[in-house]
Amino acid sequence: MSIGYFFNQSTKFLWYSAHYIISFKYSTPIKIDKTNPPSFYGKMPSGKQMFFEMIKLLNEERKLINSKFYKIPKTQLKDLLSAAKGSFDFFLDLPKIDKRRASGKFSEVKAKKDLPKYYLRNFHYQTDGYLSEKSARLYEFQVETLFTGCAATMRRFSMIPLIKYLNSNKTNIKLLDIGTGTGEIIESYKLNFKDTDITCSDLSEEYLNVAKQKLKKFKDLKYVNCKGEELPFEGNSYDIITSTYMFHEIPTEIRKRVFSEVSRVLKKDGIFVLTDSLQIDDNPKLNPLLEFFPYSTHEPFYPKYIRENLKEVAKNYGLEMYYNKNAYLSKSMAFRKL
Ligand SMILES: C[S@@+](CC[C@H](N)C(=O)[O-])C[C@H]1O[C@@H](n2cnc3c(N)ncnc32)[C@H](O)[C@@H]1O
Repeated sequence: MSIGYFFNQSTKFLWYSAHYIISFKYSTPIKIDKTNPPSFYGKMPSGKQMFFEMIKLLNEERKLINSKFYKIPKTQLKDLLSAAKGSFDFFLDLPKIDKRRASGKFSEVKAKKDLPKYYLRNFHYQTDGYLSEKSARLYEFQVETLFTGCAATMRRFSMIPLIKYLNSNKTNIKLLDIGTGTGEIIESYKLNFKDTDITCSDLSEEYLNVAKQKLKKFKDLKYVNCKGEELPFEGNSYDIITSTYMFHEIPTEIRKRVFSEVSRVLKKDGIFVLTDSLQIDDNPKLNPLLEFFPYSTHEPFYPKYIRENLKEVAKNYGLEMYYNKNAYLSKSMAFRKL
């Protein structure tokens, strides 16, 4: 397994790093006022440090797989074909993203229905924001490029607290995922806990439709187009709620409402597993990188997110943090409903 795993991950790393480097070189340079430089200026971690952090992540995952703690989806021919198509579409879209970034425009989105103002924007300057199938089809490639091929691994670290919970708990488990997007992590959930009853939810109908197509072999999955802060589910109805990479994209007030809804919908002793960006001081060497991120792309709510005490906020809603583990540029946290 180890050789196969490292071969796969190295190929992914080289492929997405090449896209990262080309897109960085192509893009209009980010303007920095050197007379009054931002705090990260001149302090960015070196390539060597980043590589070391990444190897730590991959080595940890290799051990999890070798010890049969969890399984990962096998790479298939269709994945290679979609990587080739993804590359073509990525480069086709890159000039549009760069134009938006250079001019600071982030409101080029059209919504078919009434959606919250905070959501109607080109997050990451991506074309159509979260509001088209085209954007949804490009999304995973863009995320993997940003994380040089490690996004799927970082997401899978959510499964550590999930599997521990499932091993010590009964059957007939119901899991709700909030902000599922195009559903990348759901295949790993189904591979590792196939009998769990899973509901995928997202505010974007278009992203959810793409998730449905990608995950069509799993006939029992349910899909609900809704807001995380207004969940259309009964109280005490789910054993597990998960959310991956959504929390940094919502304003502080909405984040509180999502915690409140999670607490309402979870059963007592149920768990909430949240995976998102590292926060300030989780790994101090990487602080400058976290501070740089909202400079380099449209992430208006990220600066507050990385400074928020999630443990304290969650506690206000009866959710107790009992697990918190870094995974390269992400971390997974688990909260128990008291
Ligand atoms: C960065 S993407 C993460 C998608 C996916 N979970 C992943 O791991 O890649 C954020 C997702 O959250 C969704 N989202 C943002 N705000 C939301 C809200 N208030 N309620 C529900 N979904 C939301 C977006 O539509 C998008 O699909």
